[in-house]
Amino acid sequence: MIEKVQFTYTNDITVINQAQFDAHMRLYEGYVTNINKIDAILEEGDAQRDQSNTTFSFYRELKRGETFALDGVILHELYFENIGGDTMEPDQTTSDMLSDDFGSFQKWQDDFVATAKASRGWAVLCYDQRSDRLRNISLDAHDLGNIAYSAPILVLDMYEHAYFLQYADNKAAYITNFMKNINWTVIGGRVNY
Ligand SMILES: [Fe+2]
Repeated sequence: MIEKVQFTYTNDITVINQAQFDAHMRLYEGYVTNINKIDAILEEGDAQRDQSNTTFSFYRELKRGETFALDGVILHELYFENIGGDTMEPDQTTSDMLSDDFGSFQKWQDDFVATAKASRGWAVLCYDQRSDRLRNISLDAHDLGNIAYSAPILVLDMYEHAYFLQYADNKAAYITNFMKNINWTVIGGRVNY
């Protein structure tokens, strides 16, 4: 059973207002509900495994829903955790890693913003363990575009539901305000994990 994380809107969250936060939180809770429904069917329901096939089957839909809903839960939690706070810049380790892999902090930032603008779902700074380096990756859905063996460091929700209530179609302003409201303490914890 996946328990939802209780996030609270606080004044240090400047990238989104309370109304945008509340609407987004309801959506997050929907993913928690759905992964629990799917898990319950997989564990003790009628999953119809004997009918499983690649064209259409209930079992296939369960498998599609399982990773979509679970990645939806995880990515939203990482996103809500990494906004706000009062640290305005990365710690030395994070800063050095970004400079090593992108040329400079500014170059990383420029690339992350471009990644966000290119993403229909999520922009993620992750540590790609196969290449032993950080990468900015673009996800068109919760479960579409991830590197299999990687760890997320910074997560930005680029679905329209993340900003449209507050910013309408001004996606650029949402991204700019996000970049100013990154919780670098949380990022440092993920880098040094
Ligand atoms: Fe979202």
